[in-house]
Amino acid sequence: MISNKTNKIKAAITAVGGYIPEDFISNRDLEKMVDTNDDWITARTGIKKRRILKEKGKATSFLAANAAKDLLNKKKTDPKTIDLVIVATITPDYHGASTAPTVASEINATNAYAFDVNAACSGFLYGMSTATSYIESGRYKKILLIGADMMSSIVDYTDRSTSILFGDGAGAVLVEPSANNFGWEDEYLRSDGVGAQWLKVKSGGSLYPTSKESLDNRWHYITQDGKTVFKSAVSEMANAAEQIIKRNNLNPEEIKYLLPHQANKRIIDATAEKINLDKNKVLMNIEEYGNTTAATIPLLMYDYEKEFKEGDKLILAAFGAGLTWGAAYLTWAYN
Ligand code: UT7
Repeated sequence: MISNKTNKIKAAITAVGGYIPEDFISNRDLEKMVDTNDDWITARTGIKKRRILKEKGKATSFLAANAAKDLLNKKKTDPKTIDLVIVATITPDYHGASTAPTVASEINATNAYAFDVNAACSGFLYGMSTATSYIESGRYKKILLIGADMMSSIVDYTDRSTSILFGDGAGAVLVEPSANNFGWEDEYLRSDGVGAQWLKVKSGGSLYPTSKESLDNRWHYITQDGKTVFKSAVSEMANAAEQIIKRNNLNPEEIKYLLPHQANKRIIDATAEKINLDKNKVLMNIEEYGNTTAATIPLLMYDYEKEFKEGDKLILAAFGAGLTWGAAYLTWAYN
């Protein structure tokens, strides 16, 4: 359990930005690519479209930089005042070089240092844990955290178990010392490497460097054991949310919204049901964007920002490759 209740400085999200590409692949488009249909995808996942970054020469850094620029423009923040840029992603522009420095340069955050966090669909939660800790310690004052993934770069569009799910996008938040004592209240984060086998890109890492064999076997694409991941996602997301709710003495009635990772509408519904949360408190945009991995939770904040009021009690929950998962409790810090 984090101990920020006794610390003087509390960290808060003070601005939100987002970027989603205009191009998309609809369920009807997918019908022409793999053996699937709109009815099945809609009923089994809740997804209708997934946004795709199609422009040649553009990658995750482009999505992330656009989300960051949107935030900086709205908040009227000088990028030179940013201390740290964190990009949560599993689709960096390059292996061997973090994407965050590219983003920092692109947005002119010339006084910042920058690095990536790789925790797949839990990347935003893990990134928030890092960013809030730096703020609480007093070491830094302005941290830009961006969840960004260009999933279309690792999706096999001949595989119907993954191509129906994933999309591209980026969401950004600014994390600063709280001015009103609202902000990051608590987090519960876990991981289990035994489950790495169930959801991964097999090649391109140090265990299976890219080779003719890896290319022939299509190991450079994301693969998953969908059923196993589904079951673990429901039980771990619900358990993490329950832990957070219980140890902060929250009633489901006083929770304003649940912001769950957007992997599958049925995972979200089952998680909400397990923690007895009313359906209208569960935020979703999966229908339009699909699963954008590290970007889902900040993109929910981007889409629903106007609904949030100072002091609103929000629960975040995520589950992803690694395996990684967790939940967090925050009080919204601004109107
Ligand atoms: O962020 C974390 C990342 N990933 C996830 O969280 C994904 C978790 N898993 C899932 O979302 C689901 O497991 C999938 C959407 C991937 C698959 O849904 P499912 O309900 O687990 O389907 P299934 O694999 O159990 O298949 C059920 C039926 C089968 O037909 P029969 O044997 O019942 O006749 C499949 O052949 O649906 C069939 N099927 C499909 N039909 C049309 C499986 N995939 C498709 C498809 N289109 N894309």
